[in-house]
Amino acid sequence: MTLQNDYHRPVLLREVLKLFESVPPGRYLDVTLGGGGHVEAILDLREDLQVVALDRDQDAIEISSTRLERFRERVTFLRSDMKTYLESDSAPSSGVGLFSAIFADLGVSSHHFDEVSRGFSFSGRASLDMRMDQESELSALDVVNRYSQVDLVEVLKRGGDVRYAGRIAREIVEHRPIVYTDQLAQIVSSAIPKRDVKGRLHPATTVFQAIRIEVNAEFDQLSALLASSRRRLVESGVLIVISYHSGEDRMVKEFMRAATTDQCSCPPKLPCVCGKTKWASPITKGPLVASASEVEDNPRARSAKLRAIRKVELRKGSR
Ligand SMILES: C[S@@+](CC[C@H](N)C(=O)[O-])C[C@H]1O[C@@H](n2cnc3c(N)ncnc32)[C@H](O)[C@@H]1O
Repeated sequence: MTLQNDYHRPVLLREVLKLFESVPPGRYLDVTLGGGGHVEAILDLREDLQVVALDRDQDAIEISSTRLERFRERVTFLRSDMKTYLESDSAPSSGVGLFSAIFADLGVSSHHFDEVSRGFSFSGRASLDMRMDQESELSALDVVNRYSQVDLVEVLKRGGDVRYAGRIAREIVEHRPIVYTDQLAQIVSSAIPKRDVKGRLHPATTVFQAIRIEVNAEFDQLSALLASSRRRLVESGVLIVISYHSGEDRMVKEFMRAATTDQCSCPPKLPCVCGKTKWASPITKGPLVASASEVEDNPRARSAKLRAIRKVELRKGSR
């Protein structure tokens, strides 16, 4: 497996640490532990914080437990996806409960691409896999070989804004069975008119991204995270989300806008029953993005967008 520091470089670290300066003391939740870079820097910064750290990928849990060994009293590692964890009603001793912050750094880690055998990358030959959780049922092999042409088009549009989604889906269906990553990349390339294969981006990049998002139900996971954040945060607790995909950023932006705007339509003298009262205040005005020097140093940071809100104190009877 990759060495700890090669596993993944945390993005927007300075910005994240700045936000953590005002997180209430106690226990926070990191739902995307990865290589543990953010957790390590946050625990170094704030001695009064502990963390429940989740990842659905066993490799991430293993590498981070070693990296974070010196903080072992302050970290609870859990292999789980965020949706299952946050929607669980049973409270395991590790504590489904309230958190002073919830932090999500979405998507995949560099390790997923670097470890060619995981099937996320087409830079070598591997079986089509793309599962972050090595034990989950659906893999890229199933999506590519079993989905109908119509469903494939939908997957490609939703997760990758893929141009020529119809042609690519048709080629995929015609070339089945497709077993390997490089085989799929080749089929995608040949489905696209030569005049449109230009620039540095390989035409299979967005196709692979879209299939990965489908395999890992990434929109559904994010939706569950956002929906549970209100009841999982303490008063003044902070929700911080870094996303890398325009569809995800849109979800985060719309959710945070609704959370920080009063849209209640109930009669003013009665308690709110519509649930659309404002419950948070914005911390970031627009999205925070990486500086030019960070992007130069770590090109993966280019598409990162960070948004954050703080749960507000609701006085009795107030809306
Ligand atoms: C961008 S990396 C996080 C990097 C981390 N912040 C660091 O400093 O190394 C995303 C990680 O979240 C995990 N992940 C993605 N979606 C997840 C989900 N729905 N539930 C749990 N883990 C998830 C991935 O397996 C990956 O390890």
